[in-house]
Amino acid sequence: MIKPRFISFEGGEGSGKSTQIKLLAKKLAKHGDVITTREPGGTIEAEIIRNLLVKGKKNKWSGVVETLLLYAARKDHIDKVIVPSLKKNKWVLCDRFKESTIVYQGYGKNVDIKLIKKLDKLITENLTPSLTFILDIDPKIGLKRSIRKANTETRYENMSLNFHNKIRKAFKQIAKENKRNFKLINANQDINLIQDIIWNEVTKKIDAKK
Ligand code: TMP
Repeated sequence: MIKPRFISFEGGEGSGKSTQIKLLAKKLAKHGDVITTREPGGTIEAEIIRNLLVKGKKNKWSGVVETLLLYAARKDHIDKVIVPSLKKNKWVLCDRFKESTIVYQGYGKNVDIKLIKKLDKLITENLTPSLTFILDIDPKIGLKRSIRKANTETRYENMSLNFHNKIRKAFKQIAKENKRNFKLINANQDINLIQDIIWNEVTKKIDAKK
C-alpha cells in the first residue's frame, strides 16, 4: 500500500541521508506536521534490535537472521510510529526502509529476494513510501565520510569494498527499474544542490494535493 506522505531515503554509508532529512523536515514543516525517523530503529524496542545489527563482528549473523531481525524491528516501528503518524496526516521522513533490506541482505548477503518480498507482504502488508530518494556515492568516498564521524556503528562499514560496491550497484538498479517512486541523486555534490533536487520532487507532491 503506497502512502502519500511517507518518504524514505536510501543509499550507501556516508551518503548524507540524515543531513538531507533534517533540511527537508525544516522546509516541510510549513506544509504540515513532520516526523523524522530511521531504520533499523525508530522506537525504543527497535533501537535495541538496531544495536544488535550495527555493532559487533561483521560475520556474527547470516543474511537470513539479519533479515528476520530487521523485519521484527520494522514491524514494531510501523505499528508504533509510522502508521499512527500517517493516520494523523503527518509527513513521515524515514532514513532507510525496505529497499535497504532488498539491497544489503538480498544483493549484498545473497538472501533470496522472494523471501524478503514475502516477509514484506505478510508482515508490513507492503507498506510503501510514495517517494524514495536514493543518494548515490562512490563507497570509497562514502566510507571515509562515515568513519570520520566518530561512528561506533561500524558493523556494515567494516564489510569489504566489494560488498559496498555491490550495494551501490543494486540501489542504482532499483532506481532504474522503477522511475515513478525512486529518485537517484548524485550525493557527491553541494548539500544545498542536493536539497534543491529533493525539494523540487517533494513540491510536486504538495502541488498535486492542492
Ligand atoms: P545507517 O548507516 O543508515 O544508520 O544504517 C545502519 C546500517 O544498517 C547500514 O549500514 C545498513 C544497515 N541496514 C541493512 O543492512 N538492512 C536494512 O534493512 C536496514 C534498514 C539497514
